[in-house]
Amino acid sequence: MHTITIQGSSKESTILVGEACSNVKKYLPSSQVVIITDNNVFDNYQEFFPDGNVIRIDTGEGIKNFETVDYIIDELVKIEADRSAFMLGVGGGVVCDITGFVASIYMRGLSFGFISTTLLSQVDASVGGKNGINFKGYKNIVGVFNQPDFVICDPEMLKTLPEGELLNGCAEIIKHGVIAEIELFEYLEQNYNRIFDLDREVLEKVVYDSIVIKSSVVNRDEKEKGERRKLNFGHTIGHAIEKVTGTSHGKAVSLGMVSAANLSEARGFLSSDEKERIIQLLKNMKLPVEMKIDKERVLDAMRRDKKREGESIHFVLLDGIGKAVIEEITIKELEEYFL
Ligand SMILES: NC(=O)c1ccc[n+]([C@@H]2O[C@H](COP(=O)([O-])OP(=O)(O)OC[C@H]3O[C@@H](n4cnc5c(N)ncnc54)[C@H](O)[C@@H]3O)[C@@H](O)[C@H]2O)c1
Repeated sequence: MHTITIQGSSKESTILVGEACSNVKKYLPSSQVVIITDNNVFDNYQEFFPDGNVIRIDTGEGIKNFETVDYIIDELVKIEADRSAFMLGVGGGVVCDITGFVASIYMRGLSFGFISTTLLSQVDASVGGKNGINFKGYKNIVGVFNQPDFVICDPEMLKTLPEGELLNGCAEIIKHGVIAEIELFEYLEQNYNRIFDLDREVLEKVVYDSIVIKSSVVNRDEKEKGERRKLNFGHTIGHAIEKVTGTSHGKAVSLGMVSAANLSEARGFLSSDEKERIIQLLKNMKLPVEMKIDKERVLDAMRRDKKREGESIHFVLLDGIGKAVIEEITIKELEEYFL
């Protein structure tokens, strides 16, 4: 097992990579524990849950809203959860986001922790202290920065994950390699097959490396004033593709990374060999590198993106594999190098 510490402004958070979910009791306080989970995770893992009240929610991005927050708070009131209660989110990014959000506002804040059950939530969503919900079609527009006491990432839980969900995590792992760590990128080039075999050693290594990369960025810039923007590599275009086409997050980010690599090459930051290596790794990891898309609608979605500033946007490019830079670019330039 590997342990990583994140020093957030609200508190210190410990990430436990390779810890078994059944060991969660070791990290819980003796006070009342309230478990938030979704129906899929409950069906697969209820036998490993520690003692405590269980609040079950439905699955999918659509439930990450105030209605679900309302429902959970209603349940907390019914079971008379007080300020000493501990909230444990057991699930993917949706459960973790909503648990962190409710725990931060109920009675002005309870302690909370996560058992992170998808590859995406292990390498991304449950690390970094962002806890957001959606509002009227705007993704993660309401939320708080607040760190969980702990996050357990148990690779065994990934065995029940559908392959499509695994791919969402793969895209983020590749992103971490290309923006910050060429060794991780090279390791993926050599071992990508073993991820799909759910090889424990490989999963632990890529989850651990991803968390170290994300947490070191977050430790330097918890509230996204500059450095943290590098984690958005491939996401400006990716989010717009996801929104317009309904493509899954990982596939959309993959297409966004290809566009960002094109732009990096055009600006003279990335060689064509390096770009081809990135494209090859995406392909090897079953992610798309081209798609027939209504380009105008995607660009239009990007124009309305909340991160846009004037006619240009802060865009993450690659200065070689393993190093990201933030440059101002115009929507017109984006149009030119888009896929
Ligand atoms: N807070 C952050 O910094 C941050 C970062 C990235 C993403 N996110 C958020 O994370 C969310 C996406 O997270 P996700 O991809 O984990 O999706 P998810 O939570 O919707 O989980 C995907 C599906 O897998 C199922 N599932 C979860 N664990 C399982 C398991 N072990 N076995 C079988 N099925 C399982 C779930 O029930 C669900 O149907 C989005 O809402 C996104 O905004 C947050």
